[in-house]
Amino acid sequence: MDKLEQVYEGKAKKVFKTDDPHYYIIEYKDEATAFDGKKKGIIQGKGTINNKVSAVFFELLEQKGIPTHFIKLLSPNEMLVKKVDIIPLEVIVRNYSAGSVSKRLGLEEGIKFDTPILEFSYKSDELGDPMVNDYHILALHLATKDEISTLTQQAFKINDILSSYLWEKNIILVDFKLEFGKTPEGDIVLADEISPDTCRFWDRTTMEKLDKDRFRRDMGNVEEAYIEVARRLGCL
Ligand code: TMP
Ligand code: ASP
Repeated sequence: MDKLEQVYEGKAKKVFKTDDPHYYIIEYKDEATAFDGKKKGIIQGKGTINNKVSAVFFELLEQKGIPTHFIKLLSPNEMLVKKVDIIPLEVIVRNYSAGSVSKRLGLEEGIKFDTPILEFSYKSDELGDPMVNDYHILALHLATKDEISTLTQQAFKINDILSSYLWEKNIILVDFKLEFGKTPEGDIVLADEISPDTCRFWDRTTMEKLDKDRFRRDMGNVEEAYIEVARRLGCL
């Protein structure tokens, strides 16, 4: 598969056309940002780890019946995916209080919710990815009612699958962010990435943070945390 011109460059990855119009190549970068791009840095080896970790999760989810954009790994930091149009919504699932929900609702971090929380944010760095509800989504034509219901059902299924898989690896899935895309045929599939950049992972025994919060909060041992996640998932 030939890598042709770049169609998109995001903060953590680049997307390229291929010689087949149905497929794109995603290249994951070591560059890291936080706070809508205001904080910048490099996490050595992140591109490779996020590529491989995402592949593990996408393969697991496909096996469990969740359609994704993933086709196969191409190199340490590249994967082949289906071409999709990204729905401009971040779909966030929270099992424990942390991050913005702790701030917004005045909750200390680490409280387990009796039922998971689902949030949607409108993907816009300029606006700081503002939280929106179903009514905003419908009024702004970001997704239809049926699509909202598909995103919701898929997000909760994904939460169940990933939470139990990670529990076995001694990791608590605190929260995570998903993005979905639409294929030219109109099917909604899970897209983007699932990695320590887009999830909060806490060690089940020590509650140590094994994710991008170490970068966001200048906690040190950032690379080590990413490597530890990859090691537990068997992709190093
Ligand atoms: P939050 O607590 O900052 O709202 O983050 C919730 C989850 O979403 C957390 O696992 C990190 C992830 N996330 C992203 O993937 N991208 C983002 O831009 C933000 C703010 C959070
Ligand atoms: N990826 C987001 C950004 O740069 C934020 C984050 O993950 O904290 O801005």
